[in-house]
Amino acid sequence: LPATSQAGPLAGRVVTISAGGTREALDPVRFLGNRSSGKQGAALAAAALAAGATVRFLAAHMDVEPPAGVELVRVESALELRQAALEAAADSDVVIMAAAVADFRPAEVSDTKIKKVDGEDAPLVRLVRNPDILHELVERRNAEGGQQLIVGFAAETGDAQGDVLEHATAKLKRKGCDLLVVNQVGVGRVFGQDDNSVVILSGHGAEPQSAAGSKADVAAAVVDRVGAELARVFP
Ligand code: CTP
Ligand code: CA
Repeated sequence: LPATSQAGPLAGRVVTISAGGTREALDPVRFLGNRSSGKQGAALAAAALAAGATVRFLAAHMDVEPPAGVELVRVESALELRQAALEAAADSDVVIMAAAVADFRPAEVSDTKIKKVDGEDAPLVRLVRNPDILHELVERRNAEGGQQLIVGFAAETGDAQGDVLEHATAKLKRKGCDLLVVNQVGVGRVFGQDDNSVVILSGHGAEPQSAAGSKADVAAAVVDRVGAELARVFP
């Protein structure tokens, strides 16, 4: 371990971080996925390690390797991630849900490869909702009265219902997490890119905080803020 980590702001803390995009199986060779690269999650893990934390890294599909030094758990689907997250969170001081969790999964998963048949219609894929892992983590923390800081990520676009911050503020309330890190998404922005620009919203009344730069810069800002919020919310 680097010498700085013994005295870092998260020294002695256990931090669970989920990252990457879940894959929801249709059959043994096909899935529904998303464009999350896992880069921001990997950068967060590196920043948490540098701050002295023990890091449990729950990796869904990623385009990059997780940083060395984490306790690595690989997952595929939202249901697998839920299981891993509930287990890892049980004795974590901080949980950061940076993974892009599929909102829906195919209602039926075929045991065998789906074949096309000449003269038959194309199959219709029916979807069902996945559980909201972040919300479940918050509910459990609240039920147990634990001193655990829970952080969500959200990619938002403005639309007819409101701008990015209005949507994000509503989401923070709905999820009940302590911090929400908000990305503004547009075509060609955020997904897979190396730079990032976020606003960190607090569920405890602190002013929104902006952070921009490389994903490492953003990760460092989020980890700093996690340390500060831990001290403020659970003194
Ligand atoms: N999340 C989760 N479980 C889900 C969906 C999302 O834990 N089934 C987490 C993500 O990891 C992220 C946060 O919730 O930290 C916000 O994800 P987002 O997709 O923005 O929220 P949703 O509630 O799914 O809202 P939307 O309908 O805008 O996608
Ligand atoms: Ca979603």
